[in-house]
Amino acid sequence: MADIDITLDGAVQIVRFNRAAKKNAITRAMYAQMAKALTDADANDAIRVTAFLGQPEVFTSGNDLMDFLSVAQGGEHGTEVQDFLRAMITCQTPVVAGVDGLAVGVGCTMLMHCDMVFASPRAWLQTPFVDLGLVPEAGSSLLGPSIMGYQHAFALLAMGERFPAQKAQDAGLVHSIVEPELVDQSTLAAARMLSEKPPQALATARRLLRGNTAPLMERMQEEGGLFAEALKSDEARNAFMAFMSKKAG
Ligand code: COA
Repeated sequence: MADIDITLDGAVQIVRFNRAAKKNAITRAMYAQMAKALTDADANDAIRVTAFLGQPEVFTSGNDLMDFLSVAQGGEHGTEVQDFLRAMITCQTPVVAGVDGLAVGVGCTMLMHCDMVFASPRAWLQTPFVDLGLVPEAGSSLLGPSIMGYQHAFALLAMGERFPAQKAQDAGLVHSIVEPELVDQSTLAAARMLSEKPPQALATARRLLRGNTAPLMERMQEEGGLFAEALKSDEARNAFMAFMSKKAG
């Protein structure tokens, strides 16, 4: 079974994480598919909106820690993550997401780039970057404070605090909280509604609302360099080994 399913429902492209046994951890191959979905959406007039969805109780646990460990041990980093993040910043087509359960690491920071996020009451967001010896990514160090203010952004991105759904909504990271069985439905209903809007006017409204994305791109690249360095640090290597040995033990 594919780790990610990409289907078209009318003019809505659905990108569904499908690796529940690993809490939908995102591998390099999955990032490549996610990046391609976003660039496809811009290139294909038949796609008007992209919707990211997960599985019951699991949106995604973020980057696959085995991939991180491999880089920490000298393996190749690849460009897939950066390709995906760049596509999230530059894509012209609206992006929505439905989150039931956990959204960790990039599973949380990618939501900051979405136009509308629906979450269940049991959803929670967390970015354990610092605990893993890493640094914020996806432009979140710039976008986070602008969305939710410095205090909440610091708590989420540096302290690694877990934000339950209500707190995430209060902080401006979530549009609506809906019952778990309605997450997909509500996300897709919004996506469909957006897909039926006059595309040019919607694209212009979205571009104005998002503003100048150049500083965001610049920050994302700066974070990417620091993140790549941090991945090779003893702090990070030890944190990945600890996670893996806890699982093995
Ligand atoms: N990368 C690789 N594998 C992961 C993973 C990740 N990010 N998240 C979970 N998994 C795997 C676990 O190793 C385990 O695999 P196994 O069954 O083969 O041992 C499986 O998914 C289930 O995870 P488990 O930890 O048993 O589930 P849980 O419900 O107890 O905890 C999490 C869920 C998400 C809290 C926990 O798995 C976790 O902290 N994951 C790491 C998240 C992370 O740090 N992401 C990177 C952020 S930058």
